[in-house]
This record gives sequence, structure tokens and C-alpha cells, in this order.
Amino acid sequence: MGSVAILASGNGSNFQAICESLAGTLHDVVGLICDRKDAPVLERAKRLQIPHAAVSYGRGNRKHPEKAEYEIIRHLERWRPDLIALAGFMRILSPELVAQYSGRIINIHPSLLPKYPGLHAIERSYAGDDEVVGITIHFVDDGVDTGPVIRQKSIARADGETLDELESRIHELEHATYPQVIAELLDGKLAAIGKFRDP
Ligand code: GRF
Repeated sequence: MGSVAILASGNGSNFQAICESLAGTLHDVVGLICDRKDAPVLERAKRLQIPHAAVSYGRGNRKHPEKAEYEIIRHLERWRPDLIALAGFMRILSPELVAQYSGRIINIHPSLLPKYPGLHAIERSYAGDDEVVGITIHFVDDGVDTGPVIRQKSIARADGETLDELESRIHELEHATYPQVIAELLDGKLAAIGKFRDP
């Protein structure tokens, strides 16, 4: 029996997939933290009756992210999650926060890292000439999309596929894979980084 807190900034389709999938298990989504008070993910949290909080990186906090992170830590200390899952969280966590929750923060990225880290990964995958594209779930370290890989899933490019179609297939893959990896981590089935690789 384990718990996960989710950090997200936008749409929240991964957040919802995780909540719906874990609802049938012994594991709990204990809360959502969002850095945009108008983000659709907050509406999803309300509908799903998941505790949620909006933290502000605005104005003063933009130059001093430690203030926003102080709020984040306050919520995390209240919820005491076993795992923290970033799901479309568009901020970079400070090395101090990453160290504080070392090995317990994971992220999902819509490319086969180390290809296309950072923003617009799906568009860049689409524009590339790779025969396969995919997703990566990895531990968060101090870099941008650089931490140790937990799992990658790939799909073959389809002839004549539009960007929207590829994007939908990538999201479907995310929604199927991220909840599964979270459940496995909380089950304690993925106990060592060396065992995580699953091409
Ligand atoms: C996903 O593609 C995820 O890989 C990336 O941001 C997107 C979030 O989508 N990090 P959503 O908010 O979960 O719908």
C-alpha cells in the first residue's frame, strides 16, 4: 500500500489516468500540486475528489522559486507521499528539493530520451526521421530530463500520420504506462535502478 503525490501544470490527462488506474488498487493519489491556478488539471482533481493545491511561482516567486517550493514542501509534508510523480509539470525543481526527495521523484517525457529533452518533444519527434518514437519515465535529477531511465516504450512511425494523430498515440502510451510504473514502484516491485530498464 503506497501513496503518490502528483505535480502538474496543464491539461492533466496523465494525472487523471493515474487516479483512475490507482483507484482499483491499494495505492492512493494523496494530492495534486499545480503551479497555475487556471489549469484544467485542477478541475479534474475537483471532479475526482483528490486533494489539490495551487502554488504560485508568479511575481516575487519567479526570481525566488524557493518560496513556491516552500509551499510545495509544506503540502508534501502534510500528505507524506511515498512517491512524487511529475506529470506535465513545467517548472524545474531546485537541486535542494530534488535532494530532499532523492530517488522518489519521477517524471514522464514524451520522447525516447536522451532524444528530444525539453520542450516540444512530440513536435520534434514528428519532424525527425526516426522510425520509432516513444515515451520515457525516469527519475528526476538536477538536469532537464536527464535522470536515470525507469522505463521506455516505443511505437513505430506510421506512414502519412499527422502530428495530431501521433500526439494521440503518444498520449495513449503515456496513459497506459505511467500508472503501471507508479503502481509497480509503490508495490516495491522495482526495487533497484538496474532492474528498471525495459526497452
Ligand atoms: C505529457 O505529454 C507529458 O509527457 C509531458 O507533458 C504532457 C502532459 O500532458 N511531460 P497532460 O497534462 O498529462 O495531459
